[in-house]
Amino acid sequence: MSSVPVIGHIGYSGLVGKSILTNLLEHHKAGKVRLVVLYREGSDLSQIPDDVEKRLVQLDDSGAEQNKKAVEGLEVLLSTVGAAGLKAQTYLIDALEGSKALKTFVHSDFGTNWSAKELEAPGLAVIKVKEHVVEHAEKKGVPITNIRVGAFDVYVFKFQAGGTDIKGNKQQIFRNSLKNPLRITSIPYLGYATAQLLLKPQQLVNQTIQLYDFSPTGQDFVDALTKINGSQAVITHYSEEQYQADLKAGPGQAIGAAIKAKWGDDNWGPDGVPDIEGWKSKSFEELAKEWAAQV
Ligand SMILES: NC(=O)c1ccc[n+]([C@@H]2O[C@H](COP(=O)([O-])OP(=O)(O)OC[C@H]3O[C@@H](n4cnc5c(N)ncnc54)[C@H](OP(=O)(O)O)[C@@H]3O)[C@@H](O)[C@H]2O)c1
Repeated sequence: MSSVPVIGHIGYSGLVGKSILTNLLEHHKAGKVRLVVLYREGSDLSQIPDDVEKRLVQLDDSGAEQNKKAVEGLEVLLSTVGAAGLKAQTYLIDALEGSKALKTFVHSDFGTNWSAKELEAPGLAVIKVKEHVVEHAEKKGVPITNIRVGAFDVYVFKFQAGGTDIKGNKQQIFRNSLKNPLRITSIPYLGYATAQLLLKPQQLVNQTIQLYDFSPTGQDFVDALTKINGSQAVITHYSEEQYQADLKAGPGQAIGAAIKAKWGDDNWGPDGVPDIEGWKSKSFEELAKEWAAQV
């Protein structure tokens, strides 16, 4: 066994993947991990340095032998695949079954703590796939790690998941969201924190980790918008009728609706974010200001 953790990463080119990869490459360069990138036929490898080992996977019924070779010796397999690749992670689990080196498979969760009841909403079917992946890992005896987050900063400020319109100086309120916190995970924090946690894989085995770096109330949003725009932000209301309709719509609207309900009901599930050494946090107002300049 290597003296530093051997970490495989698939899905390194996505939103979450890129951010973690940047930090893992630094750890690789510093000799703190040995990074192995897993790629598919046609994946973009142009950003992967020459000294990082690259192994091909084939995530279908005929890839078993190839995938076994690809996961050989990995102590951690980190998957940050997007929605299109979630189900295909079962092929990675099949390859990891029986591995003596593996400590944990960090699957592509990076979602909030959804309850079984919340996942009944038709628009949340895409998220339910993750449960299937976890069940498959349990069946195959593959240890797993769930990384749970809040709504991503980009999702909140650009795609208005919580009903925030920075430029229009408006904040939507649902139920008690004016006084309850919205969990937000900024992508740079997620990348830094996840990469740091991967340095100690033993601590991740069969664990669920919570990672979020902001928890502003609806009032904090109203105050930040008011400061940024120099005039009183307007509060609008998200109705129960709209909520029910959005839950039945496509994933974008349905997940936004479910996030608003979590916020309104303060129903985020377990907390307890681990200490992340060296992370320099900023104030919520600074975060909102940065996004105001981008949207
Ligand atoms: N909490 C939140 O607010 C929030 C928001 C968005 C996403 N998420 C979650 O974060 C995770 C990552 O999402 P993301 O937005 O970063 O994803 P993304 O940007 O769509 O990631 C795309 C990545 O997935 C890989 N991929 C695509 N199709 C694949 C397939 N069929 N098989 C294997 N790999 C495939 C791609 O690899 P190639 O380079 O090989 O194409 C690429 O690296 C997901 O679990 C998602 O649900 C959470």
